[in-house]
This record gives sequence, structure tokens and C-alpha cells, in this order.
Amino acid sequence: MRNLQARVAVVTGGASGIGLGLATRFLEEGMKVVIADIDVHGLAVAEAKLSELGDVLAVKTDVARVDSVQALADAAVARFGAVHILCNNAGVGGTQRFDTVGHATWEWTIGVNLWGAIHGCRIFLPILAAQDEAYIVNTASMAGFTSGPYQATYKTTKAGVVALSECLANEFAIEHPNVGVAVLCPAYTATEIRNDERNAPAGHVPRAVADPGLNDRRETVYSTLEQEGISPEDLAALVVDALAERKTHIFSHPEWFDVWQQRVDKVRAQL
Ligand SMILES: NC(=O)c1ccc[n+]([C@@H]2O[C@H](COP(=O)([O-])OP(=O)(O)OC[C@H]3O[C@@H](n4cnc5c(N)ncnc54)[C@H](O)[C@@H]3O)[C@@H](O)[C@H]2O)c1
Repeated sequence: MRNLQARVAVVTGGASGIGLGLATRFLEEGMKVVIADIDVHGLAVAEAKLSELGDVLAVKTDVARVDSVQALADAAVARFGAVHILCNNAGVGGTQRFDTVGHATWEWTIGVNLWGAIHGCRIFLPILAAQDEAYIVNTASMAGFTSGPYQATYKTTKAGVVALSECLANEFAIEHPNVGVAVLCPAYTATEIRNDERNAPAGHVPRAVADPGLNDRRETVYSTLEQEGISPEDLAALVVDALAERKTHIFSHPEWFDVWQQRVDKVRAQL
């Protein structure tokens, strides 16, 4: 998908971080953009900033809820008449020992990270398939390909997003060849994900309370991504280039392939 001019993008998690970077770049490419986010204040701030670049619609959305994603699709079509790029990007993190994670936290993480992408793909597909050319970009993570300790909730959902995206890329190549699917797999990116618990449901126990023993580890992760991470702007540039080349996988940190390879080698050694 090379010509983005005057086309329409919907970006979930568009009020912050990677989603805001994508929305900014799409507007700079001449697209009309819908940003969807659960954070009402962040959404208003982002809308005001992005409106200086072009035509923007902000829609309060909880991607974990099917009715909310349907309302987002309805609002996007009512305003712009079409959608050409859907970025299922909203997400929450999670570095925590498995035996300290409660049921509400599992439901929240699966709801946002995995159900959010599933709802988006299901609900937007008929709209995307009706265009001459369209793309779904699901934000997974390099964590979708790795399996180190203390991130069971996050990696479980991100591996699911990788599987969903790869399956749909292969299936749509047959059933909906005008709809491309790509999975975005960043490693450290400088965003606000440190504050991802700001919109967690009531039943979620803050990680610092549920598992204070990992506070140092979490702090190391957050400060590394803030100080050494790729910028959302640079990541968005990779996405735009990848769409032009009709890629199915978008990787920003090739050095992490070694970790993925170690996992494959460990399994292969047992054959
Ligand atoms: N930052 C990184 O290093 C990194 C690395 C790999 C993957 N990712 C993924 O990138 C995506 C974006 O995260 P980010 O790093 O930009 O973080 P961020 O916190 O800056 O942005 C995430 C946005 O998602 C929104 N959101 C959360 N729950 C939502 C819900 N239920 N419905 C709608 N919106 C919701 C938040 O309000 C926020 O605006 C996530 O899927 C994350 O897992 C991030």
C-alpha cells in the first residue's frame, strides 16, 4: 500500500506512545485519522495536537468490549465513509510472577491485548474488504516470540496476536487479497507503557502491591525503554515503509532474533 493520501486510518491506543506516533505519521502522509483510546484526557490532548496536522476524529473506546469496538467502526464510517488501515495497537504490559497474578489481571490483559485485536479484525474486516486496498497492522511485540520468565500474561497475549496476524495474513491472501495483514513486533520503545495500570479495572491489584519483589526488575525495563528505546516516530516510519512493501512482519530490533533463535535451538535439541 503505497499511496496513503486521502485514505483513512483507525489507530487504537492512539492517545499515547506508538499509537500516537502512527497517527502523527499517517496525518503527515495526508491520511484522515481516527484515534481510539480508553483514556479520555489523553484522547483530548492528542486530538488537539493532531488536529494541527489534518482531519482527526477521537473516539473513546474500550477495545476489550465488542460493543465499544463496533461503535468505533460505526463512528469512523459515519465521519469518513471508509477505513483503509486499521492499527490494533492498544495494549497493556505486565512484568509479574505468575503466582501473584489474579484472575482480574488475566482478564484485563487478555481483554485489551488479545480480544482487542480479535474484535478489531472481526468488526472492521467487512469495511476494509470493501476498499480497493486495505491493511490491518496488529501491534504484538518481540515478546510474542520469546518466553523468558515473569511475563506470562503479556507474552501469552502477544504470542496470540502473532498467531492471529500470521493466520489472517495467509487466509486473507486467498479470501480477501485486497486486505494485507502485518504484525508489528517492537522491542524497547520509548512510550508511556510504564503507566499502563492507569485504566485498569477495579479488580486488578497494582503490580507494585501484588508483587513488590519485582519492582527493581520492572524499573530496569521501564528505564531501558525510555532511555534506549526506539522513538514512536521512527517505529511509525518503519510501518509506513513496510506497508509500501506489503510486508507481513515488521521488526524494529533485529538483535532480538538471537533470543528467538535460542528458543528454537532449545526445542530442536530435544527432538
Ligand atoms: N513500549 C514498548 O517498549 C513496547 C514494545 C513492544 C510492544 N509494545 C506494544 O505497543 C502497544 C502500544 O503501547 P505503548 O508502548 O505505546 O504504550 P502507551 O501506554 O504509551 O500507549 C498505550 C495506549 O493504549 C491505551 N489503552 C489501554 N487500554 C485500552 C483499552 N482497553 N482500550 C483502548 N485503549 C486502551 C492507553 O490508554 C494508551 O493510550 C501495546 O500493544 C504494547 O504492548 C510496546
